[in-house]
Amino acid sequence: MKIGIFDSGLGGLIITRSIIAKLPKYDYIYLGDTKNLPYGSKTPRQIFEFTKIAVDFLFEQDCQLVIVACGTASLALRQIQNEYLPNNYPDRRVLGVIVPTLEVADKNYRAKRIGVIGTSATINSHKYRQELTKIDKTAKIYELATPKLVELIEQNALPKAKNALKLYLKPLQEQGIEALILGCTHYPILKREVRGLMGGKVAVISPDEIIPDKLAGYLKRHKEINKTLSRGGKKEFLVTKINPGFKAVAKRLFGKKIGLRLVRLK
Ligand code: DGL
Repeated sequence: MKIGIFDSGLGGLIITRSIIAKLPKYDYIYLGDTKNLPYGSKTPRQIFEFTKIAVDFLFEQDCQLVIVACGTASLALRQIQNEYLPNNYPDRRVLGVIVPTLEVADKNYRAKRIGVIGTSATINSHKYRQELTKIDKTAKIYELATPKLVELIEQNALPKAKNALKLYLKPLQEQGIEALILGCTHYPILKREVRGLMGGKVAVISPDEIIPDKLAGYLKRHKEINKTLSRGGKKEFLVTKINPGFKAVAKRLFGKKIGLRLVRLK
């Protein structure tokens, strides 16, 4: 069986590349729901429904484990784990990105003032705040929506994205945060710029640098899941809509040319 990686668009290709670099032997299916992008402006109900359909599709494609690489889709994670999985696929697993990145800010960097940037849906949900309270009640979170970035990155308009980033980060620069979580799959492409703007004292936590190790640790701890996974080194990249510019964007985000296959979800 395979490992599925899901994102609302192509941004998750950055995490996918780093997961494959760390764990190259497994078989992977990437799914980007480019037809329904952006998730960041959707309601929690819509985000749950789209995410459930995508996870269901990946399970039907023989995935044992699905990584919801998308920060916004990860908002639906608890509901997927608690309601959808037990009734439909009790032996399969779905993992997200919110708790792992918070754990790194808290445990590795011992940060007490943590910033997070993400889509409007992510920030308005206060999910990072809720999850951080469970990890460390004394830490404080500074949440900031940076909604223009996803669209600009998906359009390959990086200079414009960098300008938008400069304006967005100004208020966070004044908060004296010790760590900043990039709470959206698309933002790692700008991590160098974020690090430059935030200065050396702020630990910038980028999911592409966290999730591969977290996944490797999970597979080590969960031998019952690990032993079901096939190791043919195969990779498939599926999207729900193909625009003419997507190939160039995919190449930039994945680091090399990949073939995107169009699929239809329910
Ligand atoms: N991939 C989403 C995330 O990580 C952002 C893109 C969107 O708005 O769909 O939050």
